Amino acid sequence: MTALTLDVRDVTKRFGDGETAVLAVRGVSLAVQPGEIVLIMGPSGSGKTTLLSMMGALLKPTGGSIRLDGTAISELSESRLPDIRLRQFGFIFQDFNLLSALSVLENVAIVAELAGLRGRAARDKATTLLTELGLAARLDFLPEKLSGGEKQRVAIARALINDPTLILADEPTANLDSKIGHEIMRLLRSIAKEQGRSVVIVSHDQRIRDIADRVLWLEDGAFKDIVTMATDPVCGMAVERERAVSAEKDGDTFFCCSRGCREEFLGGLREDGRADGRQPHGWSRLAGALRSRRRRASTTQSDAS
Ligand SMILES: Nc1ncnc2c1ncn2[C@@H]1O[C@H](COP(=O)(O)OP(=O)(O)O)[C@@H](O)[C@H]1O
Ligand SMILES: [Mg+2]
Repeated sequence: MTALTLDVRDVTKRFGDGETAVLAVRGVSLAVQPGEIVLIMGPSGSGKTTLLSMMGALLKPTGGSIRLDGTAISELSESRLPDIRLRQFGFIFQDFNLLSALSVLENVAIVAELAGLRGRAARDKATTLLTELGLAARLDFLPEKLSGGEKQRVAIARALINDPTLILADEPTANLDSKIGHEIMRLLRSIAKEQGRSVVIVSHDQRIRDIADRVLWLEDGAFKDIVTMATDPVCGMAVERERAVSAEKDGDTFFCCSRGCREEFLGGLREDGRADGRQPHGWSRLAGALRSRRRRASTTQSDAS
């Protein structure tokens, strides 16, 4: 059995007491696997920020438990939490939260220093990470000189610098235009996958659905309809299991984006003898369509003869 990174069990959060009490989160359970990227969507006021804050030990649940790598963080005393937040979590917020008096490099390096790395080593590590995020030419800039997308990339570097177990992002694309927001989320996905980090993003931005392994819907503080994502084994596209074309092979179920990919996966229509293979998505659909047209043509011919 694989160990879970995050195990949220029947968590509730109530703000206030008596008549004016608000039940912001109502009995939510969620397990996040190592390396998994989960997107939690839902309308404004549905409890996304409250839930994410509890996952990141910024807020204590009223009921239920939260475990991170087996440690019940919801039970820990306040004095133990700052260290856990620093080392185990990477936070990304919609308004970036960079320190305006520090350069890009300093904004990232200081977080590594807080976790115990010496100045030079912290700066080297921050430089490597910022370079990977495409910011090598911006190291000495102050945040005010950066575009929104660049600021969010600095925030991602800061979130990653202490090799956290879990990255938590609250509406990370809210202050970015949609194209940049999507690009940055793809970048976060590729680095998180490369490094095997788990990520939980809360957002109401429909356009970032495809970067998640799993999308959950929160409404009135509870999960409603769970949409699980799978990867098409032929074209590699993320598909919703519930809407995908399923294929059985060797006793397992696979999920394909289209009939063309399904047929290609099952191997029945491949003419080059290979059982499967990765083709660009458009190619695979085009090839499927051409094959079925050719098949129709040959059926018509034999009907005529
Ligand atoms: N500190 C707080 N005190 C009282 N009510 C709060 C507090 N934080 C959030 N709420 C309430 O909890 C509900 C969920 O809020 P929130 O988690 O911010 O939702 P979302 O992030 O999905 O917009 C809302 O009704 C909000 O008004
Ligand atoms: Mg919110």
